[in-house]
Amino acid sequence: MTQADLVIRGGKVVAPDSVIEASVAIKDGLILAVGADSAMPPTKQTLDASGMHILPGAIDVHVHFRDPGYPHKEDFASGTIAAAFGGVTTVFDMPNTIPPVGTPELLAAKHRMAADKAHVDFGLYALLGEDTIQHATEFAKTAIGFKLYMGNTFGAIPTPDTGAMLEAFEVVAPTGKRVSLHAETNSIMVRRELRMREAGRIDPLAHIASRPAVVAVEAVSRAAILSEWTGCRVHILHISSAEELRPLREAKARGVDITGETCPQYLFLSTDDYARFGGVIRVNPPVRERRNQEPLFAALADGTVDLVATDHAPHSVEEKTRNDIWTVDCGFPGVETQMPMMLTEVAAGRYSVSDYVRWSAASPAKIWGLYPRKGVIQPGSEADIAVVDLDREWTIDDARLQSLSKITPFHGRRVQGLPVHTLVRGRFVMKDRVLQPGTRGHGRSVHAIQQMPAAAPKNTDNTMSAIVGAGSPAGREHAA
Ligand code: DOR
Ligand code: ZN
Repeated sequence: MTQADLVIRGGKVVAPDSVIEASVAIKDGLILAVGADSAMPPTKQTLDASGMHILPGAIDVHVHFRDPGYPHKEDFASGTIAAAFGGVTTVFDMPNTIPPVGTPELLAAKHRMAADKAHVDFGLYALLGEDTIQHATEFAKTAIGFKLYMGNTFGAIPTPDTGAMLEAFEVVAPTGKRVSLHAETNSIMVRRELRMREAGRIDPLAHIASRPAVVAVEAVSRAAILSEWTGCRVHILHISSAEELRPLREAKARGVDITGETCPQYLFLSTDDYARFGGVIRVNPPVRERRNQEPLFAALADGTVDLVATDHAPHSVEEKTRNDIWTVDCGFPGVETQMPMMLTEVAAGRYSVSDYVRWSAASPAKIWGLYPRKGVIQPGSEADIAVVDLDREWTIDDARLQSLSKITPFHGRRVQGLPVHTLVRGRFVMKDRVLQPGTRGHGRSVHAIQQMPAAAPKNTDNTMSAIVGAGSPAGREHAA
């Protein structure tokens, strides 16, 4: 009989549709068997998980690890350590670094850097902007997907207009990859912010006043139309309002390949918290009125919103505590606190632990073509596992975060549920809340195992390159 490297015994294995008492055997980084303990093969090592739940490691499709460019905020080592402590085994990292990931050479350099430093697996987004469309086909070979900024946020990345967006979608559609969208319409926000500043507003609530939900509603609707026209797959990042759900729902009903995420800040924080946290809570899109929370939870439950990600956006204490709201950097860390915060609602009975793994692991794996290699605990899958104590109550203390960023509006929150061990492809990266030596560089890029379904481009007789002609300079530049 084959000998396993590790058998995890005595725990409850969580799948999107079941929770079963089972042991899990791991060999060569893969799940060898899941089942009755008596059926487990001989093993070199055993982990006693009595009283614990065994979850597929979370896949956080939205983090900013700031590498290269902002080593005081985060780097790929500190960010992936924070992920491991949060039960997160794969992260997709955003391109708003210095320089932004806007050429194939910079993407290759980032792959080398991340492979050297990562403690968990990763995918890298390439920047899809007006000046990078010509690289899209090349990017598609190694990027997990694309990031397009419809609105401005940290890093001041230029925002493509609708014409450039359509052209970009036309070029990406045949690659089958997905474009993740910062869906806030820039022109509305620019005018609003100017009016606020002219009125002398520098208080935290001026931030949300400059970005009313209509910026997201308009952007989601427009993105859905361009996605529908081109057949380019899209993903709506950080859904913050109830109003955005309607265009998302309607596009899905029309068969558009559009997915969406929300984040703990929109589920658990509201405008009631601005007075207490001031600029610490400044994030794009902004934390909105409490009335949005229930519809966002309901949208997760009915599948309108597909998954939970974090938009982990680390900054220093000084950068988060300035008096003038317009000078406060946007965002805060979250990769480490998402799982405990979401599991607290499992303890409260709002949804099941199976629902949680659907949103945190199975759905992201399916949407980015990693399932069932990742996102589920079953024979043949990679052994990416969070062993979690669902009973453990504790208080989030931002000074104790692994992230270099030590300031978050989640500070002081009482939560129930703690990742005790995290394994990436069968190897302990975090064990008993201690980082395991030698795990730097263990993380690897998941693009090599990504299998997106066949591309389905539409209206191809009418694309920019079709009109301009493959023989012209513009046609050559844009030819897929
Ligand atoms: O608040 C934010 N911060 N929103 C974003 O979309 C980007 C992020 C960052 O990079 O800091
Ligand atoms: Zn982001």
